[in-house]
Amino acid sequence: MLPTKVSEDIFWVGAVDWNIRHFHGFSYSTHHGTTYNAYLVVDKKTALIDSVHRPFAEEMIERIREIVDPSIIDYIVANHVETDHSGAILEILKLAPNAKVVGTARCKDGLQKHYFGNWDFQAVKTGDELSLGKRSLRFIEAPMLHWPDSMFTYIEKDSLLLPNDAFGQHLATSKRFDDEVDEKTLMEEAAKYYANILWAFSRLVTKKILEIQKLGWNISIIAPSHGIIWRNNPTRIVEAYLRWAKGEAKRKILVVYDTMWGSTEKMAKAMVEGVSSMGIETMLFRLPFSDRGDIIKELLEAKGILVGSSTINNGVLPTMAPFLEELQGLRPINKMAAAFGSYGWGGGAVKAIEESLEKAGIEISAPALTTKWVPDKNEIQKCFDFGKEFAEKIAKAE
Ligand code: FEO
Repeated sequence: MLPTKVSEDIFWVGAVDWNIRHFHGFSYSTHHGTTYNAYLVVDKKTALIDSVHRPFAEEMIERIREIVDPSIIDYIVANHVETDHSGAILEILKLAPNAKVVGTARCKDGLQKHYFGNWDFQAVKTGDELSLGKRSLRFIEAPMLHWPDSMFTYIEKDSLLLPNDAFGQHLATSKRFDDEVDEKTLMEEAAKYYANILWAFSRLVTKKILEIQKLGWNISIIAPSHGIIWRNNPTRIVEAYLRWAKGEAKRKILVVYDTMWGSTEKMAKAMVEGVSSMGIETMLFRLPFSDRGDIIKELLEAKGILVGSSTINNGVLPTMAPFLEELQGLRPINKMAAAFGSYGWGGGAVKAIEESLEKAGIEISAPALTTKWVPDKNEIQKCFDFGKEFAEKIAKAE
């Protein structure tokens, strides 16, 4: 297990999880696996920045052994409590029992409640520095990016920012740097990561980036805790984060639906045709066959969404509910939406959809369209027109 040099005396010593297909329980699909990135800084003092998910502890330790004896580690910087980054701290402390764990005060509380250890802990806050010898670690708290305990570590000597989860991607690869992997895949995974992990905290994302820019730090490498390291013009991912946080979107409309006996599906497909007739890009997703995390990623850069469900028990189909629930948590910025669906005797689904969209902070841009039982030719035409008119609104919204 070999480490990878990131900068002079700084090494990636993380682990690659090729097989993980679901993250955060089953809330986020990881089609390309992930990595848990830990970094070893070798100076007069030696620091390990973050660790890995516990099942991968040995992989990390083997990489460290290629550079130094793990027993000489002086500091373990825990930028974030979540177990995919802190899980191997216990194993490192067995080898380096005198190492001090460094993190925010909230990190201390969180680690204690995860591992119940009586560790030598040094709490740090924004502006604090820890000298290792030739270089210092500088800390900046980043609460809610994406947990209350989160912080970034900066090494001025190497112009290196270690922002833990921020700027990450769930992407397992044998390569470690952005200039070694396919750019399209990389940016798509970065977008999916933002949409599913950080979207809800967009206001704080912008604030933190502006705060760091104001500090005037020279940053030539951004080394997150998942996926590849940004060393080839890392400002492009920072700019992408600012765009996503601002809610910049394309002329694109998603049609997301589920159907009981095919009527709502007929409506959805006619709407797609109507949107397309206006020359606007559209994508059709049927739940649950389409992956929720992928739809959320597509929504990040789409201006509009049409959401449809057949009515069952005066509400939406149960397959639709988790998607609407997730939207409420993520609160997408700057989106326009409308609801549709077929019904038999009561049409409660569209009302439930509209209520959920409103709770998610999404603007309802048109009255819902419903069809009793099976849509006839005239009603299919209405669906086509509905899609077309919604597309016109999206085009005008720019
Ligand atoms: Fe990658 Fe919030 O843990």
